[in-house]
Parts: sequence; C-alpha cells; structure tokens
Amino acid sequence: MSAETALEQLAAEIRACQKCPLGRSRTHAVPGEGPADAEIMFIGEAPGYYEDRQGRPFVGASGKLLEKLLAGIGMTREDVFITNVVKCRPPANRDPLPAEIDACVPWLHRQIELIDPLLIITLGRFSMAQFFPPTARITRVHGQPLMQEERAIIPMFHPAAALRNPNWMRDMEADFAQIPTLLEKVRAKRADRAQDNEGPQQLSLF
Ligand code: URA
Repeated sequence: MSAETALEQLAAEIRACQKCPLGRSRTHAVPGEGPADAEIMFIGEAPGYYEDRQGRPFVGASGKLLEKLLAGIGMTREDVFITNVVKCRPPANRDPLPAEIDACVPWLHRQIELIDPLLIITLGRFSMAQFFPPTARITRVHGQPLMQEERAIIPMFHPAAALRNPNWMRDMEADFAQIPTLLEKVRAKRADRAQDNEGPQQLSLF
C-alpha cells in the first residue's frame, strides 16, 4: 500500500475516532493535510473554531500567518504536511487535557511514521512537549533544532502567540529563515546514509 493510501485510510479512522469525549463535541475531526512525501511536517496544538467547521488545519488567522511565513522561504502550504497533536477541537478552545492528548497522540505518531519527514516543526508548547523534556521553555529553546538520526525537530512559537507579541513574531521570522539550510543539512545526511547502505552491495558487483 502506498504511503498516500495509508495516510488516507488513517485520516478516515481519525474522522470516525471516539477514543475521547472530544469525539462527541466536535463538528469535524481534523486529521491534517499535505503530501504523503512532504519533507516538512508542522504540528500545532488542536483545531480551533474554523478548523472544526471545515475539517482542515490552520484555516484561521494562525494559518494565514503560517502561509505568509512559508511564502517568505519560497514555499506554500501545499508543499508541507500540517497537523495537530489533538485532532478534535476542545470546547471553547480550552487547552487539551492530558487524557485527550494521550488518547490522540498515537494518530500523530502513525502520521510521522508514514510521512517520514526530514523536519518536524512544533508550533507551541503542547506540540513541543511531545519531543522535548518537560523542563524545556519555548522562550529559551525556540529555533534550536534537536538533531535525530535522520531528522531535525525544531521548536517554534505558536503562530497565535506570535500574532500577540511583536518580539515573538520577530523570533518566529528568524526561526523560519533557518528552515532552508536545515532542510539541506538533513537531505545531505540522508543521502550520505543511503550511500553508506549501498556501498557493500556495489562492491559485491565486482
Ligand atoms: N491552532 C492550532 O494549533 N491548530 C490549528 O489547526 C489551528 C489553530
């Protein structure tokens, strides 16, 4: 099965999910969207009012900012995969509860496995908390990539926070400006790794 088909099947399961009480209060679940072979995956917190209405991630003011920041590095939202830690809107946009996150986060990990992105960009503290220790503070660590084997995870402010605070907006612009270089670095790492894996096979031809 192609990653695209597997991702679509996963989205259908997410739309039918009743693993936590948000399944009853939502209008639409929001699995996320973007190409199955996206090199970059953005992970937000949870759908808001407009996302819940439309079943699509980041379609409100935060989404507009995300699109503007992407345009600044020559990309569009169609180039990247955009999703959230929690796939259904918490009532009145309250913070997601630990039990809701625990119930929902396996969906996110299956999406990461299928897409296998080169960069994961966490937006805001709930998303950051999936990958960084609880002591990490976004004001300190934003823009500092965690380099894994073949992937970089970059914590960033949530766009809604940047819209409220001009200093954080400047920080977010600077963090975005690093994306092309980081992407190139991880591409090179993966290419090296692929070559290492090919080495013995090529030698055996002679
Ligand atoms: N904020 C989020 O964290 N996610 C969305 O999809 C929209 C707003």
